[in-house]
Amino acid sequence: MPLMILAHPNIQQSAANKTIVEELKKSNIELEIRDIYNLSPNYNIDVAAEQEALLRHDFIILQYPMYWFNMPAILKVWFDQVFEYQFAYGSKGYKLKNKKLLPSFTVGQPERNFKLDEYTSRMDNFLEPIKKSAEYSKMHYIEPVILYEIASVYDVKNVTGNTKGEIINKAKEHSKRLQETIKRYDKG
Ligand SMILES: Cc1cc2nc3c(=O)[nH]c(=O)nc-3n(C[C@H](O)[C@H](O)[C@H](O)COP(=O)(O)O)c2cc1C
Repeated sequence: MPLMILAHPNIQQSAANKTIVEELKKSNIELEIRDIYNLSPNYNIDVAAEQEALLRHDFIILQYPMYWFNMPAILKVWFDQVFEYQFAYGSKGYKLKNKKLLPSFTVGQPERNFKLDEYTSRMDNFLEPIKKSAEYSKMHYIEPVILYEIASVYDVKNVTGNTKGEIINKAKEHSKRLQETIKRYDKG
């Protein structure tokens, strides 16, 4: 059964991430969801509880909105504290070895804003810290499931964003793609 680390600083006000999680809960996929923002008041992470949760599962999904071309601060604090020496790495470490790590995230801007050319996306650069952290911890990085273009307002070249209904529909589609990816990789 996979573990989802949900990292959103205001999940009640969220449209996309909230819908993705609600749709997953309605699906036939069993998973443990940890809302690390609400579990960690004032960014105080219960490191032992988070490490125990990671040890219970072989498949870890990171669910978050892109903030400033990165993960939200709570997820960075989680990495900094939970992936510690002699747990994620070190002579007595590598406790996450061979576990799968799948980023699933939402992005305000359209995909074309990230393209360098037809074949290259700057998004790959923004994902490098997670990819390299997985590699460093001997985890298996799974190519991310990304939902682009869901800002309610964005003004690059005066383009207007989506209505809440459109965001919710796109988030439902994302949740389906995520469910397919989970089924493909979750083999017991
Ligand atoms: C603090 C903050 C930073 C953001 N940074 C980016 C960004 O760097 N690139 C981008 O495309 N969207 C950015 N966005 C838009 C969010 O990614 C988008 O609103 C979010 O994915 C929507 O998910 P939600 O409905 O679950 O909140 C940012 C939003 C906030 C609040």
